[in-house]
Amino acid sequence: MAEPTNVSEQHDYDVVVVGAGGSGLRAAIAAHEAGARTAIVCKSLLGKAHTVMAEGGIAAAMGNVWPEDNWQVHFRDTMRGGKMLNNWRMAQLHAQEAPERVWELEEWGALFDRTDEGKISQRDFGGHRYARLAHVGDRTGLEMIRTLQQRAVDLGIDVFMECTVTRLLLDGQRVAGAFGYWRETGSFLTFRAPAVVLATGGIGKSFQVTSNSWEYTGDGHAMALWAGASLLNMEFVQFHPTGMVWPPSVKGILITESVRGEGGVLRNSEGKRFMFDYIPEFFKAETADNEQEADAWYADHKNNRRPPELLPRDEVARAINSEIKAGRGSPHGGVFLDIASRRSAADIKRRLPSMYHQFKELGDVDITKEPMEVAPTCHYVMGGIEVDADTQAAKVSGLYAAGEVSGGMHGSNRLGGNSLSDLLVFGKRAGESAASYVAGLPSRPAISSRDVQAATDEALAPFSNPGGENPYAVMKDLQEHMQSLVGIIRKGEELELALKEIDRLKERAQHVSVKGSGRSYNPGWHTALDLRAMLTVSECIARAALERKESRGGHTRDDYPQTDPDWGKVNLVLRERRGVIEIAKQPLPVMPDDLKTLFEETH
Ligand code: FUM
Repeated sequence: MAEPTNVSEQHDYDVVVVGAGGSGLRAAIAAHEAGARTAIVCKSLLGKAHTVMAEGGIAAAMGNVWPEDNWQVHFRDTMRGGKMLNNWRMAQLHAQEAPERVWELEEWGALFDRTDEGKISQRDFGGHRYARLAHVGDRTGLEMIRTLQQRAVDLGIDVFMECTVTRLLLDGQRVAGAFGYWRETGSFLTFRAPAVVLATGGIGKSFQVTSNSWEYTGDGHAMALWAGASLLNMEFVQFHPTGMVWPPSVKGILITESVRGEGGVLRNSEGKRFMFDYIPEFFKAETADNEQEADAWYADHKNNRRPPELLPRDEVARAINSEIKAGRGSPHGGVFLDIASRRSAADIKRRLPSMYHQFKELGDVDITKEPMEVAPTCHYVMGGIEVDADTQAAKVSGLYAAGEVSGGMHGSNRLGGNSLSDLLVFGKRAGESAASYVAGLPSRPAISSRDVQAATDEALAPFSNPGGENPYAVMKDLQEHMQSLVGIIRKGEELELALKEIDRLKERAQHVSVKGSGRSYNPGWHTALDLRAMLTVSECIARAALERKESRGGHTRDDYPQTDPDWGKVNLVLRERRGVIEIAKQPLPVMPDDLKTLFEETH
């Protein structure tokens, strides 16, 4: 096959990792250590990743605070939190391997808060039976990124930063590389690589109120789909219960669940601790139904039931939403999160330093003296690329996915803290599998000049529409529609409307035009390119949400409010064929009997 001549900058690697959050960095380290020539390509500056928004900790059953904890309890909590739709094998591997990944991180220089005996301290989080989150204050994700980044740089792994990948390149049915552009200059480049690990994170920018920053436009999800891979359960979107609501410029910024893990409580405008009114049947046995028992939890996790503020995130987000809708919200449209009356000022500043500064600097609120105003914010997508549990291989040879962009691990709802451990466990597995795939290849794939030309033409298209619409206008409308029609509470007719709107937006996106004469420093052009992925993933979310006629985890249907056992047996799988997104039901993998018995025991 002829080599392309139309893009002069070309690079050769064994494994290219797209994304430099926790999973991308961990995958690159693993691939490099397995002997693969490895590069990391990231859209943003190295170190700027949504991983830092997992502030509260890494969930791992190390048993440092509660020796009763073990991987079986963690596995069970994770499956129950995901309402049993999780890929059981991923949940098992995750629970088994998380402690080792945390100790490894510590060996690489990560700092953690300590128990009195000097062990890594672990804190409470929603849905976890025991205090299980290894943490450093409320900056755990940041510490994890710092450590992994330092290790990757020390190992000499090549990093292409501020470089956006827009297309995967194939040789027949297998991966041959990737195509992208430098954000600074706008010039194009290709990577020739038999294996690509997608670690691009989530889709949060498709929604108006989100904890995600500008990078999270669903690039990896969309590129995998366009390359022939399948996406799983895209209807499940996590709205973190506590985002900032005021001032408007910071709306959606995350308030860590650690505030509740440290004893913070939610109240409505009447001062009522309202979560007691929202305990679902599924969690009744393990949730305290009165203040005395709820508060005793922190002293004795064995004989008392968890406070309702520590129910899984989907439950808490829906409850907050209901209080606001019922007119019992705070002045700026949230509810109150109170840590000031529960912990001393010194404790708050020591255990939650970022929250203290965040509210002081951004909201002029002293959280040691007053409650915070909070409301749900789009934080995470449980749906993602369908992968093999052990290897993280997608349905296209040479394609791997790890972290938020992959699907299955968290079922219909992720427990807080399980993201950082997921990134470490499956980042490592993806990097190792990709390296071993390349080592076993009898011949290397080639990229075709025709495909590179097509990717180039596609990227340049927004420059050929003089007088067209501004891409920001299309993005803004998409975010508004997704927020109002595909948000926390969904209805069939609204989802149908959303799909019609997405069709119209796709049409508009074809004709957007880019201001400015050139490709260097042209953020309007970047947005025009991001829009394609955003529209693709938004359509996947809305289609799957319309199809799943029940409520479960991060998918609530007003018109189908019950959790339906029949829907608990299937995943929804999305594929693209000739530009059309198709959806099908697929039976869940069957859990072996020894794991099933864990759900009969009480721990
Ligand atoms: O609330 C938090 O600190 C976020 C953690 C997570 O998403 O895992």
